[in-house]
Amino acid sequence: MDKFVIHKSALKGSVKISGSKNAALPIMAATLLTDEECVIRNVPELMDIRTMIKILEVLGKEIKFQKNTLIVRTKRKTSLKREGYVAPYKLVRTMRASFCCLGPLLAKRKKAKVAFPGGCVIGVRPVDLHLKGLRELGAQVVVQKGYCVACAKALRGRHIYLGGAFGSSVLATANIVMAAALAQGLTLIEHAACEPEIESLVLFLRKMGAQVKGEGTPLIKVQGVKALGGAEFEIIPDRVEAGTFVAASLATNSPMLIEGVNPLHLTSVIEAARSIGGECDLKDSAIFVNPGGTKRAINLTTLPYPGFPTDLQAQFMVCLCLAKGISLITEKIYPDRFMHVAEINRMGASIRRNGPYVIIEGRDKLYGAEVMASDLRASAALVIAALAAEGKTEVLRVYHIDRGYDKIEEKLEMLGAKIRREKQ
Ligand code: EPZ
Repeated sequence: MDKFVIHKSALKGSVKISGSKNAALPIMAATLLTDEECVIRNVPELMDIRTMIKILEVLGKEIKFQKNTLIVRTKRKTSLKREGYVAPYKLVRTMRASFCCLGPLLAKRKKAKVAFPGGCVIGVRPVDLHLKGLRELGAQVVVQKGYCVACAKALRGRHIYLGGAFGSSVLATANIVMAAALAQGLTLIEHAACEPEIESLVLFLRKMGAQVKGEGTPLIKVQGVKALGGAEFEIIPDRVEAGTFVAASLATNSPMLIEGVNPLHLTSVIEAARSIGGECDLKDSAIFVNPGGTKRAINLTTLPYPGFPTDLQAQFMVCLCLAKGISLITEKIYPDRFMHVAEINRMGASIRRNGPYVIIEGRDKLYGAEVMASDLRASAALVIAALAAEGKTEVLRVYHIDRGYDKIEEKLEMLGAKIRREKQ
């Protein structure tokens, strides 16, 4: 296992954002809807992408991944026996996003057996909406020995309400849109997720020949077609990675040019950065962040898109630990996504949690310590805290960050960060 050794750093210069992990993963799953070749560009080099490649290989795809381009072909003889429809637990347990193979596998191969993902460190994370949607399309779905087994001779379009206790679901929307693309007739998905990653999946499906409308709104209409073809596509920039660098700029008081982004995907994040006191100058595909002087305390609530993303809650918490006054964060997507609180407190922060709320009393400084990364975004938050903290910090278990941040040390080093990877 690796750790990062980080010293307080002033950052300077520009950083280029990679392709979006959360856009790439469902699009990779969507290649299961066709036997033809798909070419996907701007795919980030990450552990989660490698895991999805392994899953697709198990499911009968041949994959080349070079220079951020994925070429996905179907093996000449994809047997529809076991290997043709089973996504095994040993792979799924390392990445919940593999559950979005369920919809496309079922639609194309009439049968799917995907390991039932367990809970994870950011919360319970149920999959009831995925299963409800597929059942409404006419699939028989059962949970057997830790696997979700679904079958349907033919899926039929339906009017499906996909809202849950915490609002819309990104990957349930992805699963149902993909299944409906090959269903008979019209499917209406109400309370669909509006995230840019879903918009992007729909654009890819349309290139494959699917008839889908309404992406980016809560009502998606899918007119099923008989078959889908291959497609070429470019993955959108990673808005969470971009937002992570916005937070790093604010927390370390370092002006920074963040390039290769779509600022329109980051409105709520830019709004939060400005409320904290940073200046954000928006270009077509870049954001220049000038952190300004003293940071202001704010109230921040995570919400489905276009609200402030839960995937940036931990990183912005670090900024608020260094702001003047008392801030309140309300986590409305994953009420238990606060494993980082205790670790940031070990660095001298004053954060109190009460259910889905945290109250942060801003401090002048944070101090280096040994801290433990618990999940992907929490790791990013600890790295930001370490760059802002006095002295030396060791962030243990950084394999989490390797799941979702492409060349993170390289990018930070280019900005002048004092960061080193060592064996733990
Ligand atoms: C996606 O997960 C992202 N993952 C997550 O990013 C992100 O945090 C999340 O969306 C929210 O934006 C990928 O895209 C691969 P949800 P997803 O279903 O789709 C509840 C990261 O760090 N819910 O939109 O699994 C759920 O518990 C990761 O990159 C149900 O109740 O999240 C949550 O409260 C972590 N029933 C809310 O909906 C369901 O069947 C939204 O979750 C499904 C979800």
